[in-house]
Amino acid sequence: MSVAAAPGNLAGIEESATLGMTARAAALAREGRSIVSLSAGEPDFSTPEYIREAGIRAIRDGHTHYPPAAGLTSLREAIAGHVMETEGGACATAEVLVSAGAKQVLFEALFILFGPGDRVLIPAPFWVSYPAMVRLARAEPVVLETRAEDGWKVSAAGLDEAARAGARGLILNSPSNPTGATYDGNELDALVEVAARHGLWIVSDEIYREIRYRPDYASLAARRSDYERIVVVDGFSKAYAMTGWRVGYAIAPIEVIESMTTLQGHVNTNTALPCQYAALAALADREARDRAVGEMVAAFAARREFLLGALDSIPGIEPLPPEGAFYLWIDAHEWCEALGGDSTALCFDLLEQEGVALVPGAAFGVEGHLRLSFAAADPVLQDAAARLAAAGRRLLGGA
Ligand SMILES: Cc1ncc(COP(=O)(O)O)c(C=O)c1O
Repeated sequence: MSVAAAPGNLAGIEESATLGMTARAAALAREGRSIVSLSAGEPDFSTPEYIREAGIRAIRDGHTHYPPAAGLTSLREAIAGHVMETEGGACATAEVLVSAGAKQVLFEALFILFGPGDRVLIPAPFWVSYPAMVRLARAEPVVLETRAEDGWKVSAAGLDEAARAGARGLILNSPSNPTGATYDGNELDALVEVAARHGLWIVSDEIYREIRYRPDYASLAARRSDYERIVVVDGFSKAYAMTGWRVGYAIAPIEVIESMTTLQGHVNTNTALPCQYAALAALADREARDRAVGEMVAAFAARREFLLGALDSIPGIEPLPPEGAFYLWIDAHEWCEALGGDSTALCFDLLEQEGVALVPGAAFGVEGHLRLSFAAADPVLQDAAARLAAAGRRLLGGA
């Protein structure tokens, strides 16, 4: 008897493109090879002590039962307050849904907003899970090309042209994984204006919102009073180093939140209650929060500076200075050409020859590039920079 999944339910959904690389890196490490891995999408910092303590306290206090399907009311309130304080705009508690990570709210939002026949625009390079999530909703992911000259951002004119060909939604990600590109207020206003003209839903993934290196960042949370069809997604994984706690949230019109709550009520009820108490503490103690997040963002900023300097002198690659998040998006066309392969072949080559693990641009829908995560300690980054310099000498013949 076959044990395969129901036909159709996973049609067109593939395993993560990076799994093969990760498996090979692990195999080489087991063989005793020294491997420097800069492929992870999670902070290397421990969750701040005051948050961990709050999680432990929640368990001791007996908060170990089913959570409310939409999340703890006190946490929803705290999230609404935090977003209004940091980004402006208005947000009611009932417009907030808590869930098991940004990933789950993204899936739920896409699943309830879109369905068969709907085209959803996804600017490339894109975070790996967006096309799969849109397909799971039986809708059609439509890749929207962006250009290096535009900082890998979608322009109002580009969105207008794509929307004219037919679309119901747009996924924005600012700051972006993998490029670190962020949108300022004028750029967002122009996109909202086009979206409103075409009646597009905008699902705005702002999971890296609090890790940014430019002062004029703007959030769609502040534009919800101008245009209703906006869903803002954020969470605690990145800025609070809480990837394993699984707490994320969406901010959206009440009817959307209600539908998402119905969906998650049938799927997982919600994320674990002690984790919700830990997230509540993460926001509630403002002084501890500002210190902890501030220290981590300062460390990311210093690493960013170091790497931009170190990679600048390596021939054949060009990193884009990221405006947010903790990734370097590196133009590696010359290395691909020298190798005679695509970005995936280049990544395997760098892994085998120099023992450095990166993610190929192909995983994000754009060839000829590499993504390097600088969520790693300084000595690891120094080691990685030296290995990449060696790769440059090897591939370009000592140029
Ligand atoms: C762009 C982007 N969105 C969403 C997520 C998922 O975050 P979470 O851990 O909150 O599910 C990630 C994680 O890598 C991400 O990079």
